[in-house]
This record gives sequence, structure tokens and C-alpha cells, in this order.
Amino acid sequence: MTACSRSIVSRQTGPHEDLARRVVRALAHPLRKPVAEHTREAFARTRDWLEHRGGAPLILDAGCGVGLSTRRLAEQAPAAAVIGVDRSADRLSRDHGPLPDNALLVRADLVDFWRLALAEGWRPVRHYLLYPNPYPKATHLKMRWQGHPVLPVILALGGRLELRSNWRLYVEEFALAVTQATGMAAAAEPFVPDEACLTPFEQKYHASGQALWRLVVELPHDPGMVPGDSLPVAGEDT
Ligand SMILES: C[S@@+](CC[C@H](N)C(=O)[O-])C[C@H]1O[C@@H](n2cnc3c(N)ncnc32)[C@H](O)[C@@H]1O
Repeated sequence: MTACSRSIVSRQTGPHEDLARRVVRALAHPLRKPVAEHTREAFARTRDWLEHRGGAPLILDAGCGVGLSTRRLAEQAPAAAVIGVDRSADRLSRDHGPLPDNALLVRADLVDFWRLALAEGWRPVRHYLLYPNPYPKATHLKMRWQGHPVLPVILALGGRLELRSNWRLYVEEFALAVTQATGMAAAAEPFVPDEACLTPFEQKYHASGQALWRLVVELPHDPGMVPGDSLPVAGEDT
């Protein structure tokens, strides 16, 4: 199969010079953005669904797009509860066949959803960030997850965190941020998907002949790394 998908174009030739400063800031200053009501409601429904899964291990698919990866992960791990989260109602509404019983797709803003999940004490065994929006302009560093104030929350949830991207620098920056924030070794590695790509973006990039990159790191559950007042009070208003 051939396809045409453009590679990432960025003026950045190495990790952003402001990355370390942004990580320090994220670790020191609470993220006080109020939680949007729609995400609070979506989280409450998700929590109810999860409570009915009888303590099944949790897999998070953060930024799941149309939810193909959520479906595939749920099929591959029938004993797990797999939750795909995306803010795009349009993407989530596309018909990609029935959802397995052990999968749920949720429309929510991850910045809020992650904080609610950590406040609730969730401990995902696996956590996927599959082809996040790259924001390749240098001025957009703070929108990449490694430059975002929510980074400590993502890491504090713990579990096996896997990031995939077609932009090597994104994964390299994320690795630097993981090591800076947690002291754990993390590195970008080349990644070649098997026959069945996990997501539509992976499929598109792979079919275009683009190199793919990933980072996998096993993290402890460590809410203490999140600066005070960043997390909503568990159970409040839900
Ligand atoms: C490039 S797409 C990748 C989708 C899918 N993982 C894939 O590989 O096919 C990035 C996805 O992240 C979602 N996203 C970005 N920021 C988000 C946020 N703050 N909360 C929830 N979803 C977000 C977008 O709506 C989009 O669907």
C-alpha cells in the first residue's frame, strides 16, 4: 500500500532550549485551571463504568482519536478495562464497529481528565499517548505534553507509559522531560509496527514510508510529584 502523508516540518533542530525550564516550572507550580463541567460529568460516568468492571486492570488510551486503538487494545487484553479519551466529538462519533464490552470511549479534555483520574487514585497498568498533536512550531512548546503544566500528572499516574510519534524530536524531548522529572532513564527508539497498525495515524505514516519513534517507560504511581492544589478534590461535585 502506498500513501502520501507529509513528515513533520519544524525549524527546531534539537530539543527546545526552554524544555528544562518548563519542566521545572510544571513540577513547582500548581496547575489551577478549573475542571470543565463536561469533563467532570464524563469522568463521573467513566468512574461508574470502571467500578462495574470488578477491579480489572486499567489501560488508558489518551488522545484516542476515532478509538481504533482502544478497540484493538481491548481485544488484545480482554481482562483489562480500556478507556479511550479524546476531546473531539467528531472523531469519537465515527463508526468503526462495535466496542468490545471491556472498552469505553469518553469525550473529555485530557488536562482535566488526567487530574480527576489521579485525584481518584487511578493506577493505570498501561497508558498510551499515540501520535499526539506535534505542535512543531517552537513557540508551541507549551502545547506539547512534555512542555505542558500537566506533565507531572501524566507521569504521576504511573504504569507502563508508551508514547509514539512520527516526529523523533517530540519523543526525544519527552524522554528528556521524563528523566528530568522522575530521574528514570528514558529514550526514543525506532519503532516498526507489525501488519496491523494500532491507530489510523500510525497506518497513514507507516504507509507513507515515514520513520516512527516510541518511548516506553515503567513508572511508579507517585502523586507526590504533582505540586499541591493541582488536583481537584476526589469525588467533589461528581
Ligand atoms: C494526531 S491525533 C491522533 C489520534 C489517534 N491516537 C491516532 O493515532 O490515530 C491527536 C488526538 O489527540 C486529541 N487531543 C489533543 N489534545 C487533547 C486534549 N487536551 N484532550 C483530549 N484529546 C486531545 C485530538 O482530538 C486528536 O484526536
